[in-house]
Amino acid sequence: MMGAGLFPHFAGLWVALCPARAVPRGRPLSLMLAGERLVLFRDTHGAVQALLDRCPHRGVALSLGRVAEGLITCPFHGWRFDGAGQCRHVPWNPDAKLATLSATALPLREIAGLIWLYTGGTAMGGPAMPETLLRQDIRVTAQDFTWNAHWTRVMENMLDTPHLPFVHAKTIGRHLRGRSSAAMEMRWQETAYGAEITARRAGEAPRPGLRYYFPNIMELTIDPAGRVMRLLAVCNPAEEGKTRLTIYTLRNFAKLKLLDPLFLRANARIAAEDRAIVESAQPAEAPPAGEEKSVATDAPTLAFRKLWFERIKGGAA
Ligand code: FES
Ligand SMILES: [Fe+2]
Repeated sequence: MMGAGLFPHFAGLWVALCPARAVPRGRPLSLMLAGERLVLFRDTHGAVQALLDRCPHRGVALSLGRVAEGLITCPFHGWRFDGAGQCRHVPWNPDAKLATLSATALPLREIAGLIWLYTGGTAMGGPAMPETLLRQDIRVTAQDFTWNAHWTRVMENMLDTPHLPFVHAKTIGRHLRGRSSAAMEMRWQETAYGAEITARRAGEAPRPGLRYYFPNIMELTIDPAGRVMRLLAVCNPAEEGKTRLTIYTLRNFAKLKLLDPLFLRANARIAAEDRAIVESAQPAEAPPAGEEKSVATDAPTLAFRKLWFERIKGGAA
């Protein structure tokens, strides 16, 4: 059973929480999502399970406890819970009615090596995810960054092309420097999963390659000549005022593990460039469109903002 009012302003959503391999065997993993602390652990079959990281007895963090035989033991009085949240043992109280002492389990699925969590009661539908994740020929790496920013500002930054030559003058925006007097058209085309975003500069062919997956994933297609390379940016709200940005790099070349640091370093540098700017935004949370000045190239930002106010913030909670 879900408690009422969980995941404020982020309820009723399928979310890419973390790579499955981040969840160890025999040990709990604690993660913040939209103001709720979660504990993940593996059951006896090795399947990942998630509970609210809050013991139903006195509210302490289950993640401070131990995992054995697929059960998590609370560190305070030793109650034990399975992955469905069922209480399986209460020390000193052989007559305790275990069925009434459950912890709160959260629906999750493991798909394409990622843990997808549903921030609602009964899971509806399934996650919107890039098909690239399902390819067999790719190597996937993941890296986490915590930004002191509201996730809506981070998400909008990911959907925004005009900032490239300014924020990323020495990296991915180098080719656009000094060319901003030409017009750019930004198109947001709604799709079943979210939207396809196309940037077109006057006199050039349109550049697709940016996709938005509802509610909080960006996929950037890089695909160097005949190969596959994608960056996924997952913008998960963590605790108040913080966003856990996870960047997944998907590539079907240079797949040796020893080459991972090259890709990770390049991403980290670009993320640091964005971070310095995005964290300074006021107000912290993306406001209604009327409260800021906008121009035509802000189309994707404004389209996302509409989803935020209509379907996420004011959504299924
Ligand atoms: S607080 Fe968890 S068993 Fe008492
Ligand atoms: Fe950027």
